[in-house]
Amino acid sequence: MNILVVGGAGYIGSHMVKHLMAKGHQVIVVDNLSTGYRDAVLADSFFQIDIANRTELDQVFQHHPIDAVFHFASYIQVGESVIAPAKYYENNVSATLTLLQAMVAADVKKFVFSSTAAVYGNPEYMPIDEAHPKQPINPYGQSKLMVERILQDFDHAYGLKSVCLRYFNAAGADPEALLGERHEPETHLIPLVLQAASGRREAINVFGQDYETDDGTCVRDYIHIVDLADAHLKAVDYLNAGNSSRAFNLGNGNGFSVNQIIQAAEAVTGKTIPVIYGERRVGDPAILVADATAANQILGWTPQCSDIKTIIANAWAWEQKFPWDSV
Ligand SMILES: NC(=O)c1ccc[n+]([C@@H]2O[C@H](COP(=O)([O-])OP(=O)(O)OC[C@H]3O[C@@H](n4cnc5c(N)ncnc54)[C@H](O)[C@@H]3O)[C@@H](O)[C@H]2O)c1
Repeated sequence: MNILVVGGAGYIGSHMVKHLMAKGHQVIVVDNLSTGYRDAVLADSFFQIDIANRTELDQVFQHHPIDAVFHFASYIQVGESVIAPAKYYENNVSATLTLLQAMVAADVKKFVFSSTAAVYGNPEYMPIDEAHPKQPINPYGQSKLMVERILQDFDHAYGLKSVCLRYFNAAGADPEALLGERHEPETHLIPLVLQAASGRREAINVFGQDYETDDGTCVRDYIHIVDLADAHLKAVDYLNAGNSSRAFNLGNGNGFSVNQIIQAAEAVTGKTIPVIYGERRVGDPAILVADATAANQILGWTPQCSDIKTIIANAWAWEQKFPWDSV
């Protein structure tokens, strides 16, 4: 297939590109490098374009055969979205609308969208399945839900078929350590814990030890980046088979507490990780775990490398290659 990976210079998109190339697909990458890295793009075809720029997008679609678009480009920081919502609605919703219009104009009708567990808001039951009420509690989650709703209308009006993949926590790194997570600032637990292990960070801050969980710290569902990439290919196979647009949760259904992640990281790295315990943060639910039965039964997707030891070992190999500008 010819796949356009939008946001292919970012954390998840760059791993997707590598995965697609390994499976023999033709890959074109569009990214404005606002948070991504040129050296993370392993594909030959790279266009530094902002998806808000319809003219430049049209040129890409005119000059390249494209069977499907995988859309990873967005801003991703929940906290920032609360203080700068316009930035999030502009990039995550408005620019995505421009991308979708360019697709319709070019008659490209298959789309896989990076959605998020944040579309659900505060959990009403656990594990969370796709039917769970969608009541995002921040502009980041709202922006993703808005795109999901736009996609329903684009299917109805223009026949654009889509799969929305609601990731829980993407984690880990390329098993060959050519690629990995390098968000700036980093807000995700596993890379922060590993930075504390390597000495790049003095300690890991843990917010709250009085949650109703086994050890009092928050529980989250982590999915290996390679398993996420694999789900995207299964999603496009699903669309190629003529199936209807829909959303799927991607998680492994096993929650790990913050303390369990720190202990697992100590076991993998052989280091003692300094921890500073603080107060709870506003808006953090005690437990967020996916029910990914639909992805398993309908897409035939089963995580292969999402055990926590593999996730942390791969992320640790990447952390040890810091500084990455010399990768
Ligand atoms: N990382 C996670 O745990 C997680 C969880 C749920 C959902 N997601 C979603 O997955 C997607 C990828 O996340 P990530 O962690 O790889 O983020 P990232 O910031 O590493 O990658 C995003 C990429 O998109 C590019 N981009 C942003 N706006 C653009 C624009 N207007 N035009 C062109 N390129 C643009 C950036 O330069 C970057 O390369 C996002 O949509 C995010 O919301 C991520």
